[in-house]
Amino acid sequence: MTSAPAAPATGKCPFNHGFDAMGDDYFADPAAHFGSVRDETPTFFYPHLNAWIITRREDALTVLGDWKKFSSAANSAMIEVPEEHQHIISPDLISRVLVGSDPQGHTIARGVAQLGFLQEDMDALEPEIEARAHRIIDSFEANGKGNLLEDYCLELTTQTLLAHMGLGYEYADFIKQLRDDFFQVLASAQEPFEEPMRSIVWKRYTESNLTLREIIESRRESDARDLISIMASQKNEDGQYVLGADQIAIHLTEFAAAGTDTTAQAMANALLFLQDNPEAKDDAILEPELWTRVFEETVRRRPSSTFASRMSMIDVELSGAKIKKGDMVWIALASTNTDPDYVEEPFAFDIHRPDPEDHLAFSTGRHKCLGNPLARVQGAAGLKVLFERLPSVTVDDPEALDFVRFALLPARRSLWVTWDVADIERSKQQVVRTLNLTVAQRREESDGVISLTLRHPDGGELPAWKPGAHLDLHLPGEDGETLLRQYSLSSDSHDRSSYRVAILREADGRGGSMTAHDRVREGDTLTVSWPRNNFRFVESSNYLFLAGGIGITPILAMIREAEKAGKKWRLVYGGRTRASMAFTEELAAYGDRVQLVPQDEFGHLDLSSLLGEPAEDTLIYCCGPEGLLQAVEAGSAHWPKNSLRLERFSPKPITRDYDDEPFEVEFTESGTTVTVGAEASILDAAARAGLSVISSCKEGTCGTCETPVVSGDVDHRDSILTPDEQATNDTMMTCVSRAARGCGKLLLKR
Ligand code: HEM
Ligand code: FES
Repeated sequence: MTSAPAAPATGKCPFNHGFDAMGDDYFADPAAHFGSVRDETPTFFYPHLNAWIITRREDALTVLGDWKKFSSAANSAMIEVPEEHQHIISPDLISRVLVGSDPQGHTIARGVAQLGFLQEDMDALEPEIEARAHRIIDSFEANGKGNLLEDYCLELTTQTLLAHMGLGYEYADFIKQLRDDFFQVLASAQEPFEEPMRSIVWKRYTESNLTLREIIESRRESDARDLISIMASQKNEDGQYVLGADQIAIHLTEFAAAGTDTTAQAMANALLFLQDNPEAKDDAILEPELWTRVFEETVRRRPSSTFASRMSMIDVELSGAKIKKGDMVWIALASTNTDPDYVEEPFAFDIHRPDPEDHLAFSTGRHKCLGNPLARVQGAAGLKVLFERLPSVTVDDPEALDFVRFALLPARRSLWVTWDVADIERSKQQVVRTLNLTVAQRREESDGVISLTLRHPDGGELPAWKPGAHLDLHLPGEDGETLLRQYSLSSDSHDRSSYRVAILREADGRGGSMTAHDRVREGDTLTVSWPRNNFRFVESSNYLFLAGGIGITPILAMIREAEKAGKKWRLVYGGRTRASMAFTEELAAYGDRVQLVPQDEFGHLDLSSLLGEPAEDTLIYCCGPEGLLQAVEAGSAHWPKNSLRLERFSPKPITRDYDDEPFEVEFTESGTTVTVGAEASILDAAARAGLSVISSCKEGTCGTCETPVVSGDVDHRDSILTPDEQATNDTMMTCVSRAARGCGKLLLKR
């Protein structure tokens, strides 16, 4: 899209010969380009846009603050709806777009739409935005390079809008097309719409409106907090819906355009500013709360929407320019934000400004950007996640000017970037990777055991895993707290379309399993960690699997793997009663290699005969209650070293006959030394010192906090490392393990 040069109007002055809203200087840095003409001609006529350009903040406030004198209606009045579509989209309907209407119509529609952008709802959306940002980065992080604008910024803002509108992932292309089509419709107010594009775009745009109307009608009675339900369900005092579905649809198309590219452009611009200002980037990486300031300073310095436009309804003089009634007035927001009469060091990129939101990037007055709370939340979240995951991301050519040359919204088409793929491993140490998955199926597997099959709502593949891996489920606790519990994956590790976990109801447990049983339903969304494996399935020619109760879950995946690899194996599976033992039907397929031992029929597993004869070629994999684990540990003590592999999900009971003492830990990579008090953990002390440390279970069972040991003796108290691994002292779990008695200082790599 380009703004077509309008016929130069005569008699309008001042006029500025240096200003060119189509030139490279403008696209490289609009604010600087305005700055170069502002002193000479603070308000000037620009024939190509057939409008007066206002560059001073004071004049901008005069215009934006008075809709009666400076109307927005002209922004839509020039949109010509082709006749064949007018029975669906009448000229009157299209003129109701928010950005192109005045009170009273604007006030009513805005009153409804505004309820869909309340700060608390936008804040509540943040975890979903972050989860989607992670998912998008998961899909391309291994490439080491890409067009960040398309692949990340626009993808994220589109997905945010889908989440906000309560639309499934399958609507992503629909929203993207809508965004492009509505931009063209808007642009047609200023430039002629050529055939055949005119027909193609209008046909598609009209059909999209009809689709949206159906969705709106289906949510008229909904009390959900998505934008469409909120707007569809608003009624007036007489119990009538405030807005018709046709009008809400028009607004949704407006949001698809205004709400995606603007924030995407801002994120891209932020990358460029940070590249020039590495100290700001370092500050924000260290203190993630600063990402909101990075976003804010970016849009101040380079607003995504360079102008707000109005029609003057009066004859008026602004900074020496004589504006006539009926003239168009374009407020150069990029210029007002760098007006030296108001802003100190206007061109500096300073994220520590005392009042970071004091700018006009979102305009002001009645038309102040409706979506600003969403833009701010998603812009900051998008940048935060990007730099958490790919801190080395670098723009290849900061001078590149690959723009859609449209003066109102100078939209970058691409931002080519490169990053170091070593960021991937580094970020795994610093960011707990999670996924928001849908509970696709909930099944009663046996007395007291349910299984949950989890899929990604985008229908895509899930991160790979190997048998023995588990997920941390984030379960809703009683008082709004989140309970983190580990559950083994029991599905087929070669099937990336879903995960299956099984959960035993433990009435005397710590509450996680009860919550899962009582509160998790099909269709719910659950946050889960990426699969983590502390129970690796190691190559062997023969396996003895020993499972007790719910301990069957990781073993199921292992059996499948052993079977695929054609290995010899045998399973002895004990449980309270036959009815309490899950997955027995699935296991029946393996015939007599599976021996079921319900306790009420056969008593405990006969470990002395199972383990009596050590076998050189056999690995024992055992999972189950603590009693079984301890019995198998004791019963296999005479087996070759490392024959036994087991996994605990409740912390191993550990007692020491002395009181813990304080000690020091030096983190060698950051050069920070902390004192760990007698009552504290290394993890607590590190977090207090502002180090980026990650954790999940905080009881030594999940492995998230595993940290390499450089030197010092460790008192290992985790339930993950084998005795051998503990003895080699290569790594430790900082949530529970400490310096060994008498070792005053540990050196850890972090
Ligand atoms: C960095 C991101 C964004 C920037 C810089 C921005 C900028 C602006 C500006 C300058 C206006 C005012 C135009 C005027 O005064 O005439 C505006 C209006 C608007 N914006 Fe945004 N916007 C952003 C993001 C969003 C988002 C995320 C949404 C919604 C999902 C959105 C929806 C709207 C709407 C509906 C209006 C019209 C409001 C009205 O006329 O009452 N914007 N935006
Ligand atoms: S946080 Fe889970 S082992 Fe330390």
